[in-house]
Amino acid sequence: MAENDNSTEEFSFTAFSNLPFYRQVNARLLDLAEVGRQRRIIDLGCGTGGVTKLILERLQSAKETVIFAVDHSASALRDAVSELGGRKDAVVRFVQSPVQNLKTAINGDVDAVVYCNSIHYVPDKQSLLAQIRDKLSPNGILAINTSFFEGSHPPSSEEFFRRWLMRSLRILKREHGMMPDASQKVESRQHLTAVEYETLLEESGFRIVKSEVTDIDGPESGWYHISGFRDWIEGVLPGVPLDTGRQALQKGLHQVFEERGIETIPRRWLSISAARA
Ligand SMILES: C[S@@+](CC[C@H](N)C(=O)[O-])C[C@H]1O[C@@H](n2cnc3c(N)ncnc32)[C@H](O)[C@@H]1O
Repeated sequence: MAENDNSTEEFSFTAFSNLPFYRQVNARLLDLAEVGRQRRIIDLGCGTGGVTKLILERLQSAKETVIFAVDHSASALRDAVSELGGRKDAVVRFVQSPVQNLKTAINGDVDAVVYCNSIHYVPDKQSLLAQIRDKLSPNGILAINTSFFEGSHPPSSEEFFRRWLMRSLRILKREHGMMPDASQKVESRQHLTAVEYETLLEESGFRIVKSEVTDIDGPESGWYHISGFRDWIEGVLPGVPLDTGRQALQKGLHQVFEERGIETIPRRWLSISAARA
């Protein structure tokens, strides 16, 4: 996503992040890190503020707490500000910055860093984790989750993805007369295994507190809303205008759910909490 992105909020992550199953996954991560007892918390890659809102809901003493909500996307932060900016019960500071500049983006140390479904975007994870570690107070805790790791797609879901892509490409071609442009493909992201994430954390000065992989039944509504998220459209259908890509993906999705008579598609989520070693 472009850093100074002035495009419409229409293709934002909000609809997906409000889905009950997604809130549950993130609520579980906040449990793992006991988020709520800390005073200074960073919500890294906060997007449109779905997780910031969950953090706010569990603060014990909101008045003494500061949440730094960091994202590089101007449009995502605009959404987050309009949802949460007016709250008087807690301080949320919105910071537009690449996470890679964390060291300079936020002054002083913090008690917790929450990083939901965003670490897979960053190529050099080791250098980022080192910065996060340096930002944490001695008893500080980091909580990470991702649904993009090696093992996140159960083998039983592969056929679904193959068909979904095939259907969407057919719709794109027949109804819109276009195909994706491979030259605009976003750099493919390296997926680490759960063990590789744990090792990376340990090598970056963390002690693993809890690491778990959860099986999620992703409902059609989840795949439908993710098909309206800019990063997803650009990843699956590079070079296709966002509204056209969304239409093709959502229509193709519905066809596959109908023809296979399915209600959910499985996905695995990795959640790790880690303390400063
Ligand atoms: C899938 S969304 C997750 C948003 C939020 N954490 C949630 O779970 O609702 C990923 C977010 O990470 C942000 N992001 C990706 N790479 C980033 C980077 N290098 N620096 C800052 N933000 C980044 C994107 O702009 C997007 O808002």
